[in-house]
Amino acid sequence: MLITLRDVCSIAEQNNMAVAAVNSASLEAIRAAIEVAEETGYPIIIQHAEGHEDLIPLKYVAPIVTSLAERSSAQICFNLDHCEHVAYAHRALDEGFTGVMFDGSYLPYEQNVEYSQSVSQMCHEYGAGLECELGSMGSREGGESDEGGTADEAGAIYTDPDQAAEFLKATGADILACSFGTVHGLYKGEPHLNFDILTEIRKRVKNVPLVMHGGSGVSDDDYRKAINAGIRKVNYYTYGVKYAGEAACKMVDEKRAAKADSVIYWHDFTPVAYKSFRETFEHIVRVFANGSDPLHVN
Ligand code: 13P
Repeated sequence: MLITLRDVCSIAEQNNMAVAAVNSASLEAIRAAIEVAEETGYPIIIQHAEGHEDLIPLKYVAPIVTSLAERSSAQICFNLDHCEHVAYAHRALDEGFTGVMFDGSYLPYEQNVEYSQSVSQMCHEYGAGLECELGSMGSREGGESDEGGTADEAGAIYTDPDQAAEFLKATGADILACSFGTVHGLYKGEPHLNFDILTEIRKRVKNVPLVMHGGSGVSDDDYRKAINAGIRKVNYYTYGVKYAGEAACKMVDEKRAAKADSVIYWHDFTPVAYKSFRETFEHIVRVFANGSDPLHVN
């Protein structure tokens, strides 16, 4: 079933857990996400990033995800990830998205508030949830970039806890993406997360669910600490596609080692990628559950 961003985060809040938010850039990832949610009994968020329009356009991905989610026994939210254009958010809501992440973090504060307010009104009209971002992780999402080393190297600006409270009040956002040491893309070294900032933000925003972007590549231990400090949604993309890419390369190497002139067909890749996504998503969904019981609804 398709549920809203607000509802999925409130389930996470009630259970002191986080929901995995994985990107829908391929059918293998979409299938793996839905099946993992159905089999583990935990909800999942499937996200389409505006920046992935070239990989899979909105008009194709939206009917695929909405119809599969509606038919599924799992609780699935379909969220727009890193939307930078109000018109694109409108198109996504028209196509049945149940949440929007409007990213005005690169704008001056006042403009971030202004645009977030207009998307908030739009989400309200469609009954969808809204995620906004304050502070900056420096690097953008996408998966190709390796500019994100430590947060400092990536030019991050941590979220200001006082401003976070003011921002949520002004925009009416349901959940808040904050910058506290994670970065998008590949980590060059160990990520250093600032849990004090997270705890301070959570105190000032009176338990509004918080979101970890740049969530792949973080240790299981740090996931647990972040969840216990109020993270309710973890965005996970780069390392999932990296592992699937590595599995595909290994498959090619093995075929060529067995027979040097082996023909590699496109359909050789899809089951390998699907299996890799299944394993990765199942692992993170169980870690993010943070010890809570499965939440089967059927
Ligand atoms: P990663 O690049 O760490 O997977 O983060 C993805 C993300 O935050 C998408 O919004």
